[in-house]
Amino acid sequence: MAAVISAIDKQSVHRICSGQVVLDLATAVKELVENSIDAGATSVAVNFKDNGLEGFEVIDDGQGVDPVNYESIALKHYTSKLSTFEDLESVMTFGFRGEALSSLCALCNITIITATKDQVPMGSKLEFDHNGKLISKTPAPRTVRI
Ligand SMILES: Nc1ncnc2c1ncn2[C@@H]1O[C@H](COP(=O)(O)OP(=O)(O)OP(=O)(O)O)[C@@H](O)[C@H]1O
Ligand SMILES: [Mg+2]
Repeated sequence: MAAVISAIDKQSVHRICSGQVVLDLATAVKELVENSIDAGATSVAVNFKDNGLEGFEVIDDGQGVDPVNYESIALKHYTSKLSTFEDLESVMTFGFRGEALSSLCALCNITIITATKDQVPMGSKLEFDHNGKLISKTPAPRTVRI
């Protein structure tokens, strides 16, 4: 008898596709370092806990995340870098898909601590669920962490 062809549930599709964006630890680090450079960072530090097995953090001195973007930063296909296909011709950043943070949220627990220059030294600590939805926001000094 032929196997039944049926749709994969949305949550599983999200996890499978996220694994195609973030293949391994090196890709995860690469995506966050690219984000730091795209944000105008002149200094980027990467710290590993137990060689990355327990997690890692990326700290940059870029422009930070404006509070108006806290809710949307980790949603799939949300980006500040382009809005139409035609924009691809002029994009000057490493990223443009709006997929990296969304995929990291699907695969692991991610926390962002950020501040714009107007907020420094105090910013916000943001936590997200596996769909990239903001689930908590608390005051904190600035860095970017996973
Ligand atoms: N370190 C950072 N500093 C400031 N803003 C950031 C930082 N990292 C991410 N962002 C913001 O979050 C958005 C989403 O990041 P994400 O990496 O998911 O997508 P992207 O960089 O736009 O595209 P891609 O998925 O191709 O990397 C970015 O467009 C940017 O506006
Ligand atoms: Mg990116």
